[in-house]
Amino acid sequence: MNEKAIQQIKQRYGIVGNYEGLNRSIDIAIQVAPTELSVLIVGESGVGKETLPRIIHDNSTRKHNKYFAINCGSLPEGTIDSELFGHKKGSFTGALDDREGYFGVANNGTLFLDEVGELPLATQARLLRVLETGEYIRVGESEVRKTNVRIVAATNVNMQKAIREGKFREDLYYRLNTIPISVPPLRERGRDIELLFRKFAYDISEKYHIEPVRLTDDARELLLKYKWPGNIRQLRNLTEQISIISQEREITAGILKEYGVTDDSQGETGLVLHSANRDVHSAEAHSYEKERDMLFQLLSSIGKEVKDLKELVHSNLDNMQNASQENYRVFNEEPANVGAPLQYAHPQVIQQSHPYIVNDQGYQPQPRMPYNTNNIQDVDIETIEEAPMSNKELMKKNIIDSLRRNNGNRKKAAAELEISERTLYRKIKDYGLDL
Ligand SMILES: Nc1ncnc2c1ncn2[C@@H]1O[C@H](COP(=O)(O)OP(=O)(O)O)[C@@H](O)[C@H]1O
Ligand SMILES: [Mg+2]
Repeated sequence: MNEKAIQQIKQRYGIVGNYEGLNRSIDIAIQVAPTELSVLIVGESGVGKETLPRIIHDNSTRKHNKYFAINCGSLPEGTIDSELFGHKKGSFTGALDDREGYFGVANNGTLFLDEVGELPLATQARLLRVLETGEYIRVGESEVRKTNVRIVAATNVNMQKAIREGKFREDLYYRLNTIPISVPPLRERGRDIELLFRKFAYDISEKYHIEPVRLTDDARELLLKYKWPGNIRQLRNLTEQISIISQEREITAGILKEYGVTDDSQGETGLVLHSANRDVHSAEAHSYEKERDMLFQLLSSIGKEVKDLKELVHSNLDNMQNASQENYRVFNEEPANVGAPLQYAHPQVIQQSHPYIVNDQGYQPQPRMPYNTNNIQDVDIETIEEAPMSNKELMKKNIIDSLRRNNGNRKKAAAELEISERTLYRKIKDYGLDL
């Protein structure tokens, strides 16, 4: 192992830790970088897989060309092929212009396919072809195109299990896995846990100009005994939470426990976790990981929905206070609405008095504009009562309008709506917009 090169890489990419398994993964990345070999990075969620493809690209002969990181798990199945391989204008509803696709634009560069285990089988077939021959075909076209792209993929999925279950092509797996890099889970990294805690505590103290939190001896010991299911991502979040919320700057084991850190060294779980030969990608570990991630996602999306609803309800109440008492009564006491899902005042009224912009946090009310009664002169009360717009419908409408305005260009629409492209795709899928 080239210790000096590894240390330089750590410094450059802000990687903290001296655990041998971590050094080994960086070492393999450095060695494989100048080659054209495909690399598959394997490790649990939150272990730090995403820096390695960047290290590989930056240390390869392709470093002056494009690097794209694509999360295969977040691209809707309906658009993933056109995202990766491009499409021809008119090849499906919503294909309003030609799209080059990542394999086209990343020519001579590197593509990082994160969560590659989530790729649909049809896309896997296309991917295998481009990996083997450098050839691909855009959706809706028959012309064969050439590209020269280096692939680095990552997964937290047990690929052997996915292959057994027929969810992942074995031939593609072997093609991607020319060089495997395994990134160790945090619970195996011993004293690195404390180093990482110190780094995150320092970062957050700098950011908010607060005194960094410190660990007592018993707290240090407890960090070593916890199993860290969310790995470094979880440790970072925990450190940030404690730094901001805790009144104390000296963090004891007792305080850590209040934040959910448990002593997992006893009993069955402890035995499994501390076994050196533990297969972290065992079927059990994987399904547990998946469920946990899904639950987190679910909880966070429920949280967002509630926040959206609160904001909408508050702004509508404001809005309605400006409207006549009579209208207020009609909107709120309409018998047909009793027990029905929350519904909102007339869309034109809302939009003209409170234009909403969607972003990753959901709807954000813009600064209030004067309530202009001229704008709502033509409002037909019958329509108001029949077609109140829900939060979701309003968002859907914003998306459709924005896509129209931008001739179907999702990049521009996402920028206009102040949401990431990924969020836009998810919403297009969620709302069943066949775009
Ligand atoms: N060794 C490390 N030192 C510092 N930060 C790290 C380290 N490993 C991971 N991180 C941070 O933890 C977070 C999760 O890493 P990420 O690469 O997104 O995980 P994964 O892709 O494996 O789920 C990121 O914010 C990353 O910067
Ligand atoms: Mg990741």
